[in-house]
Parts: sequence; structure tokens; C-alpha cells
Amino acid sequence: MTPYARHLFICTGQYCDPAGEAQALYDKLPAMLGELARYRNPERVKRGTCPCLGVCQNGPIVVVYPDGVWYEKVDENGLSRIVEEHLKQNQPVEDLIFHRLSE
Ligand code: FES
Repeated sequence: MTPYARHLFICTGQYCDPAGEAQALYDKLPAMLGELARYRNPERVKRGTCPCLGVCQNGPIVVVYPDGVWYEKVDENGLSRIVEEHLKQNQPVEDLIFHRLSE
């Protein structure tokens, strides 16, 4: 496996995302990530969908690991902020966070 720095999961389950917005967000990620999606970039952000993250409300839910930061109610603007502020500038988007692994 080539090196990568972070993994971003989006829940596409029907309970937290009854409107089905998560898959469309996921599909926009490669363009949003740009260089961070490049396969041989050691700072690469892998992305994945998940059928349930055990939250089941207030989705779409997005999780960034190894940071252990959990975001709720993520729309396209929120996902763009997560990419630009958290993934590119190392500044998590505080107003969208509902849980941290260390708390
Ligand atoms: S269905 Fe998304 S967290 Fe459970």
C-alpha cells in the first residue's frame, strides 16, 4: 500500500442521511481534495463510504482519522471547509464537530 496521511469516511446510511446526500458529497471529494487525492502523495487522504458509523442522526456524518474528529450535518460547503481548513491547513472546523476521539 502506498503511504497516506489521513482517512476520511462518509456514512451513506439511510438513518443519518435520509435525503441521500452523502453519496453526492463523496463523489465530489476527488475534485475537492486535488493534490491530496494523488496516489503517490505521502500526505494523501484516502476516502471511503461506510454503511453506518453508529451515530444514525444529524448526518451526513464525516469522520477524519487518525485525528479522531467527527463532523455532523455536513453539506457541500461544510465538506469544502473540512478539506480546506482541516485537511489542508490542519485547523479542524470547530462549528461542525460533535465528537472527538480523545473526549
Ligand atoms: S446510518 Fe449513518 S451513522 Fe448510522
